Amino acid sequence: MLDSLILLCLGFCLLFFLFRTKRPKNFPPGPRPVPIFGNILQLNLENPINDLKKLSERYGQVYSIYIGSRPAVVLNGLQAMKEALVTQAVEFAGRPQGLMVNHVTEGKGVVLLNHGPIWRDHRRFALMTLRNFGLGKQSMEERILAEVSHLTSHFEKSAGKSTDPQTLFHKTASNIICTVLFGTRYEHEDETLQLIIRMITENAKIVNGPWGMIYDTLPLLRGLPLPFQKNFKNFETLKKFAGDHVAQHEKSWVPGEPRDFVDCYLDEVEKRGDDDSSFNKSQLIFYLLDLQFAATDTTSNTLLTAFLYLMTHPDVQERCQKEIDEVLGEKAQASFEDRPRMPYTQAMIHEVQRVANTVPLSVFHTTTKDTQLMGYDIPKDTLIIPNLSSVLNEESQWKFPHDFNPSNFLNDEGEFVKPEAFMPFSVGPRMCMGEGLARMELFLILVTLLRRFQFIWPEDGGVPDYTPVFGITLTPKPYKLGVRLRGNQ
Ligand code: HEM
Repeated sequence: MLDSLILLCLGFCLLFFLFRTKRPKNFPPGPRPVPIFGNILQLNLENPINDLKKLSERYGQVYSIYIGSRPAVVLNGLQAMKEALVTQAVEFAGRPQGLMVNHVTEGKGVVLLNHGPIWRDHRRFALMTLRNFGLGKQSMEERILAEVSHLTSHFEKSAGKSTDPQTLFHKTASNIICTVLFGTRYEHEDETLQLIIRMITENAKIVNGPWGMIYDTLPLLRGLPLPFQKNFKNFETLKKFAGDHVAQHEKSWVPGEPRDFVDCYLDEVEKRGDDDSSFNKSQLIFYLLDLQFAATDTTSNTLLTAFLYLMTHPDVQERCQKEIDEVLGEKAQASFEDRPRMPYTQAMIHEVQRVANTVPLSVFHTTTKDTQLMGYDIPKDTLIIPNLSSVLNEESQWKFPHDFNPSNFLNDEGEFVKPEAFMPFSVGPRMCMGEGLARMELFLILVTLLRRFQFIWPEDGGVPDYTPVFGITLTPKPYKLGVRLRGNQ
């Protein structure tokens, strides 16, 4: 008996020794990792944000944790974020490889491409294509407003009652990006639309939820039929969805006369010729899915957060409505150009983005070379976790860090001001590519809806719960939205 116990202990010691993780020299400090698991057992994998905050209180703005045997540096607070992502823009612009997200997207697309010419060319191409969005006949603003009219019809039918908005804004955001990418919009009841939204929202929760962490931490388990396989299955369906659109476009595409993003890309493939260019059909399919994914689950969760807070802060809602009425007067529709004349509404939208904290841990970065940050040495290819949440709630940066209060974005004269710590889209060369589109969507959707409707917390709505559900994106818990037509309509 004693022999077996001693053997067991020795076995454990050997295992500990073999798999022990050794922090590189002068690496940022952090909690002691255990073999194989690293620090993941010390984090609440359902939502690690609070644990990451506590670690920052103990170890400082730059600290390290281990995901399995892989070291990661967590950036906290404005100063660390700027010194890394802006001052050392190139050094911190890499993307990790070998994680579940890379395997699902087969190393293609744009979001997860490592820093280098393929990423740069694709990023530049999309930014230009989105910017020149005189694509086809409709401008971006018209596309958004056309989709908002469907949202308005939905709320007109719900006036006097309450409605379940859980996937409503996903349908809006998804349709806007679908018209940009494919020139297609789907009816809200359409099964394809509902299916892609379900796949996107499921994947956003799996990827950095407990099963995603297990996949990334324990490579031996990757082939087993565990819940993370759903992510791969969903992606197959999404690939077929994008592939079908591309196949249809190939049949009807007229070179030099682009109708949408796919046509522009096909033009680009032709322009580059057969020069082994990274612009090719398979890259296009993953690129489309990246954009579809990035544009759907972010804007919609921000809108869900907006209505949760607007319903429960009627004073803020009323003040926006008063401003919107005054500025728009008899005008038929809101326009993005109206925003400088609406400082309070602008402040409200920014405050919504701050509390929504929609992509709390950004998309993970890596270092592209050996570098230093705040006195620590960080080797090339180290995983970097930009904790955007820590900046959006940083006590020294905000007048009211823990409240929902548009005054965070107003000066003493009531003018709109944007503090440096406002970085829901991240900063630096990897910063969100859809910022312009997202800001236009948020403005046009919120202004149009607030002008026409009053949103109230339904009597049977229970107590509002502001704690979001964690994933790549944060999602408010399901709630009901009470809708009334405004008195002056
Ligand atoms: C409220 C809405 C949105 C928020 C809060 C948001 C936030 C973010 C964040 C935090 C990142 C990571 C940046 C980094 O790694 O440093 C990101 C990346 C990205 N976003 Fe967004 N996003 C939003 C909407 C959109 C939209 C509408 C699109 C599509 C047009 C989009 C496309 C992308 C792409 C392609 C990337 C990857 C950029 C790269 O790796 O170079 N996003 N976004």
